[in-house]
Amino acid sequence: MSETQIKTATEIEVLLSASEIADRVKSLAETLNSHYRPILAHGERLVLVGVLKGALVFLADLIRALDFPVQLEFVRLASYGDSQESGELQVPDLALPNITARHVLVVEDIVDTGKTASFLLAYLEGQFQPSSLKMAALLDKPSRRLKDVKADFVAFTIEDLFVVGYGLDFAERYRELPFLGVLIC
Ligand code: IMP
Ligand code: MG
Repeated sequence: MSETQIKTATEIEVLLSASEIADRVKSLAETLNSHYRPILAHGERLVLVGVLKGALVFLADLIRALDFPVQLEFVRLASYGDSQESGELQVPDLALPNITARHVLVVEDIVDTGKTASFLLAYLEGQFQPSSLKMAALLDKPSRRLKDVKADFVAFTIEDLFVVGYGLDFAERYRELPFLGVLIC
């Protein structure tokens, strides 16, 4: 979609409403609670590695429904630039403290081609040998996959649609929408 088309986009069709997202994020948090409560030692924090910018809103809602302590870390990765086509992976910020041998959960907005996720999971595995390494994704688009990577916890599996809102952008727009939608031109 070109810049002109964005400006003429008249409507955004709701794909998942704010309340549908809230319900699903809560149930996903319950799954995480059941999975991690027996694994974490008393007082041990799960390291959540959020992938900025897209995972920000999902992560903020998710952590408030968890019943164990967390340590929040972030990396910044991008693969789209200003278009809807997946391009070269950019790695603006991979700085993390020493999280060697910790339980680590990557939190992604969406797993699309899988390039971002496979890069990050391989990096974390090689750099820190985590006690466990898993990934939670708000959205999964399995039909677009180029890399053999699977999110362990997924809120919604969707068709091959380009979605915006709830943290996800198109050319740095629409992240603030409380719902997930599809642009209509
Ligand atoms: P992947 O590396 O191709 O799996 O792409 C992952 C990244 O591309 C995500 O973290 C998003 O930032 C971006 N992305 C993929 N699909 C969409 C979409 O439908 N809307 C907005 N961003 C997307
Ligand atoms: Mg992203």
